[in-house]
Amino acid sequence: MPQQVQGVIARAKGEPVSVETIVVPDPGPGEAVVAVQACGVCHTDLHYREGGINDEFPFLLGHEAAGTVESVGEGVTDVAPGDYVILNWRAVCGQCRSCLKGKPQYCFATHNATQKMTLEDGTELSPALGIGAFAEKTLVAAGQCTKVDPAAKPEVAGLLGCGVMAGIGAAMNTGEVGRGDTVAVFGCGGVGNAALEGSRLAGASKIIAVDIDDQKLEWAKEFGATHTVNSTREDAVERIRELTDGNGVDVAIEAIGLPQTYEQAFYARDLAGTVVLVGVPSPEMKVELPFIEIFGRGGSLKSSWYGDCLPSRDFPMLIDLYLQDRLNLGGFVSETIALDQVEAAFHKMEDGGVLRSVVVL
Ligand code: APR
Ligand code: ZN
Ligand code: ZN
Repeated sequence: MPQQVQGVIARAKGEPVSVETIVVPDPGPGEAVVAVQACGVCHTDLHYREGGINDEFPFLLGHEAAGTVESVGEGVTDVAPGDYVILNWRAVCGQCRSCLKGKPQYCFATHNATQKMTLEDGTELSPALGIGAFAEKTLVAAGQCTKVDPAAKPEVAGLLGCGVMAGIGAAMNTGEVGRGDTVAVFGCGGVGNAALEGSRLAGASKIIAVDIDDQKLEWAKEFGATHTVNSTREDAVERIRELTDGNGVDVAIEAIGLPQTYEQAFYARDLAGTVVLVGVPSPEMKVELPFIEIFGRGGSLKSSWYGDCLPSRDFPMLIDLYLQDRLNLGGFVSETIALDQVEAAFHKMEDGGVLRSVVVL
């Protein structure tokens, strides 16, 4: 029987979101219904609300979530009712050219549920990132459910489903930060702080956090920054060179999505170092760099999609490290809120006063 539950809907561009009744179908082949326990509020949700992603309104928002599998459809063997899972937006297909090359972390044909959730009047909903988890229950592809240790609290675990994984993965997977490496991270929001954490976990020797906000730089120290630079007061590139014997860092991670900070990352890097772009640019932005510098500095310029994560490999491992107190995931949760407080959480996010507000159901 399809179920009626409450969910957070963005009906039109720029309009405040509302809690409405949605209809969640029974899971079909390859699908699962998940009882959501917690879901973080991410910039991407706001971006959907503002029409910045596409025009497929109405959206069912929310995508950084943990919960319990309630039911599964035909042919689902990897998860079962009762399993505690983090939802991911990289359910790998196993068949695309990237999967066939043994690189499922880049899968070009990821799965979402086939059936649609709807409003009561039958209007089909577009779930944010194919998840839609600001809802008591949601329908996803079974491959979007990654089992993790239930000892991790849902408001913490769910954050690994998006921004925190993107940041940790930017350092550990894309940047391949290794023991003794020096790292600089530009932007200390949720993603940047997670990149600091990832660098610490990987054994980086110096971890330099760059931001324009002193409060953010204070918080960055709790996520592993060994040095901080306020780039409104100091030249970030100069300061990073000073801190690294005049050389620059091995890995420079841009976690904002701005041309000027990408350029700073480019110049703050040592010869043969790596620049990682995990911040998401807007379509009109352009970067101009001296071509000879791109050649002359060597190394690599990489982009990190979702931290180049493989959920089945990375989520359970990171949850275990969190449970052993080796990864500060709890620090990302600024507040827990109810389903009807998502709009207020968007405003707090815009004001920069929180790392993550997390809806707890
Ligand atoms: N120089 C340095 N820091 C800056 C600058 C700048 N010019 N502009 C903004 N910042 C800082 C902000 O002060 C803030 O601390 O960057 C941080 C951005 O953090 P959030 O807005 O919280 O964003 P976050 O959720 O971390 O995402 C960052 O990654 O995945 C992408 O879409 C996401 O592009 C976004 C980026
Ligand atoms: Zn694939
Ligand atoms: Zn997100």
